[in-house]
Amino acid sequence: MEVRVSNTPLLQWTGDGLAVGLFEDAVELTGDLATLDEKLAGSIQELIAEEEFKGKAGSTINTRMPPGSQVRKLILVGLGKSEDLKLDSLRRAAASIARVGKNQKCKTLAISLPVYNQQLAETAQAIAEGVELALYEDTRFKSEPEEKKITIETVDLLGLTGQEKAIARAKKICSGVILARELVAAPANEVTPITMAETAQTIATDYGLQVEILEKSDCEKLGMGAFLGVAQASDLPPKFIHLTYKPQGTPKRKLAIIGKGLTFDSGGLNIKGAGSGIETMKIDMGGSAATFGAAKAIGQLKPDVEVHFISAVTENMISGHAMHPGDVLKASNGKTIEVNNTDAEGRLTLADALVFADKLGVDAIVDLATLTGACVVALGNDIAGMFSPHDDLAKQLETAGEQAGEQFWRMPMEERYFEGLKSGIADMKNTGPRPGGSITAALFLKQFVKDTPAWAHLDVAGPVWADKDNGVNNTGATGFAVRTLVNWVMS
Ligand code: BES
Ligand code: MN
Ligand code: ZN
Repeated sequence: MEVRVSNTPLLQWTGDGLAVGLFEDAVELTGDLATLDEKLAGSIQELIAEEEFKGKAGSTINTRMPPGSQVRKLILVGLGKSEDLKLDSLRRAAASIARVGKNQKCKTLAISLPVYNQQLAETAQAIAEGVELALYEDTRFKSEPEEKKITIETVDLLGLTGQEKAIARAKKICSGVILARELVAAPANEVTPITMAETAQTIATDYGLQVEILEKSDCEKLGMGAFLGVAQASDLPPKFIHLTYKPQGTPKRKLAIIGKGLTFDSGGLNIKGAGSGIETMKIDMGGSAATFGAAKAIGQLKPDVEVHFISAVTENMISGHAMHPGDVLKASNGKTIEVNNTDAEGRLTLADALVFADKLGVDAIVDLATLTGACVVALGNDIAGMFSPHDDLAKQLETAGEQAGEQFWRMPMEERYFEGLKSGIADMKNTGPRPGGSITAALFLKQFVKDTPAWAHLDVAGPVWADKDNGVNNTGATGFAVRTLVNWVMS
């Protein structure tokens, strides 16, 4: 499938499907659509009335054009109220159009949507992303892929001539989003610490990044007792992965992105019980997947920024050599941790990853983690929690997220709550009381960042997976945060 710009006027475009956006407050036809409606003796207006199409965001209708017409199917997509239009409204509209086009067996499709706030490049990019991401289908684990369906071959963006670069950018970013989706969707018997290290190697080779894989013995030498404590019950070797993107000249800034990389989280001896969603815990490397997805995109976009992509990858399992609840671990910064709950493992792996990143001399660190169920309870499945003591960084991430169509909600880092992590035996416990569980988790992480000027933690436990379709995502792994990370690095 190829998304491209076309300078053909709407009324002259020929092909299988022609899609046009309509605002909620203006479903009466004007311009080209009015002309088309006249040519069709008012049948578009009739269709709108019959289908009670109101232009609500996400709604679509479509109709067969009379035989002999230049277009086989006309697709109308609602854009919501014009004053509410956002860049993401266009991304979502494009995704809806792509799905209808596919269902209506259109090999060729044209899209005519308004330009957001006179931002031609951003508009073209968002539309291309919506199309690309909505059409992606994961059939890797089906033995017999359904018989070859008719698929969309070309998508022409009307009225966006000259925006080839924006479309190329969208394609690179989407390749990162799709990598993240594939990593999260693959089960824990397919995506393991070993395969994650291989994926990092492939990204490095394909896009010219540096890669360093620290084996268990290397991690021991660095004193990564927190990460290794989590890894010790698994039969698979832990892998501490460090990818580096370096620009040609002197970098404008240096950044680090860290992803939680639990390829499976059983809970450990505090094992996840019935109804806990243990069977979904292949998603617990969603932070790492977003980190790798961003690395893949950044490797192609080549900004003037040095970026370190880090993930301490392992499984949280049970066995005769598992951590006991109550064990005391020592992290690589010398701090000791009483593990009062082995299911709060993500923060233990992140502790050593943060200490590692903190020594790189970067300007900012962002970590992403499917860290707490508490964050999902607070914000639901579509919104990630953002925790940061640094207002500037928080603002940057919020803007990057808005542009990306990904939502982050800033949560308080209430220092008083650290009381809940006080330990009688060690420097801190790894879990506090249930109330405010996502906040104490963030406060725990904060103990491992010392010298870096800015740090933010993103709790993405909810949005990495979608039980039902939400906008540009199909059901399942969403690739959440890749677009935000890319925007942040490029800004
Ligand atoms: N990986 C889970 C968090 C999670 C929950 C991710 C739901 C995605 C969906 C994490 O390791 C975990 O088990 N957290 C515990 C922490 C608790 C023991 C303090 C939780 O949230 O219950
Ligand atoms: Mn856990
Ligand atoms: Zn976990």
